[in-house]
Amino acid sequence: MNPERRAFLKKACGTCAALLTLGAIVPAVQSCAPLMSIRTDVKSGDVQVSKLLFTAENKLVLIRNGSSEFDIAVVQLAENSFKAFEMQCSHQANPLVATRTGFFCNAHGSSFTLEGKVKNPPATASLREYPCRLDADLVTVTL
Ligand code: FES
Repeated sequence: MNPERRAFLKKACGTCAALLTLGAIVPAVQSCAPLMSIRTDVKSGDVQVSKLLFTAENKLVLIRNGSSEFDIAVVQLAENSFKAFEMQCSHQANPLVATRTGFFCNAHGSSFTLEGKVKNPPATASLREYPCRLDADLVTVTL
């Protein structure tokens, strides 16, 4: 085989292999990406979150509230359906950890679905829910 052709094929195949590997890695890295969060400092009233922060891969946005001990999780359940939960375990008031599939309490192992319902005990009650509505492209959570 012509040495120039061999060099070309080797370089082209290397590039294709790199692109295929990158294509396999990017979705995996996206699922490990940190959850989207916004910061606010509201004791009571409305907090607004842009609907544009929610994507096919990211159905949960955390509101980190400087005026509260617990974060608030805003979850997109369907295209125009959102719910907001206090990130406080209903068992003994430990802060929860949010994941893309639900919420986990590392105190005694309770877990909750993205709908705020108990998935694993010892917690027996659903998460505290805040009123939440969608106006145009803004999700408004009332504290
Ligand atoms: S405080 Fe969360 S499981 Fe006990």
